[in-house]
Amino acid sequence: MRQSLVMGNWKMNGSRSEGLALANAIVAGLKEGDKGIAVCVPSVYLSDIERAIENTPLALGGQNVADQASGAYTGETSAFMLKECGCEYALVGHSERRTYYGDTDESVAARFCQAQKEGIIPVLCIGETLEERESDTTFAVIDQQLNAVIDMAGIDALANSVIAYEPVWAIGTGKTASDEQAQEVHKYIRKQIAAKSQTVADKIQILYGGSVKPDNAKAIFAMADIDGGLIGGASLDAASFLAIYQAI
Ligand code: 13P
Repeated sequence: MRQSLVMGNWKMNGSRSEGLALANAIVAGLKEGDKGIAVCVPSVYLSDIERAIENTPLALGGQNVADQASGAYTGETSAFMLKECGCEYALVGHSERRTYYGDTDESVAARFCQAQKEGIIPVLCIGETLEERESDTTFAVIDQQLNAVIDMAGIDALANSVIAYEPVWAIGTGKTASDEQAQEVHKYIRKQIAAKSQTVADKIQILYGGSVKPDNAKAIFAMADIDGGLIGGASLDAASFLAIYQAI
């Protein structure tokens, strides 16, 4: 049995006090021994949130990580810095990074490797746009995004990573992939990994992201190859995020 994981991605939302209140409210809804729950918060608030959730079941993640270890890379946050701020996870290749900030398959693969060098678990985000789905290239897009990382990091590196399948057309749109549509892609991702290593395929957590809400989470999480969720909008409300966590 794979451990499930529900991860919130706060994106660029809220203030410091709102972030702290949200983290405290999430923690208040957890009990000792709970696991498989994390939040990826804006990097400037990492230290504050780290202190607020210390010794609680809630884990911390960054929303991105630099593709270089250190040096003259203005505006970037290194894996080492994330680690120092208590991050266990870092998102890499979120579609908003790929779309608005030019993150390429190669730079995403380099970010993935940098995270692992510091012992941070990269959460590799992959997924197709609506146009790609409608032109029947979903699997080709998945292959390309996945293989860029496998080529650079090696298949065994995936054993210490998480994949998040996030169809771009389902992000923030209120339009979720149907349970079957999501399962079909998750199964495909696991099959592609199994072709290279069955051990890694059996172990790796594959999360679904895209308009997951308390009322659809249970059905999505019930699918065989869906091990949890990466939650945007609904993770900004403690009650909704906890309800999604409890749905697993
Ligand atoms: P929403 O849950 O708001 O659709 O966002 C999903 C997402 O992009 C999480 O990374």
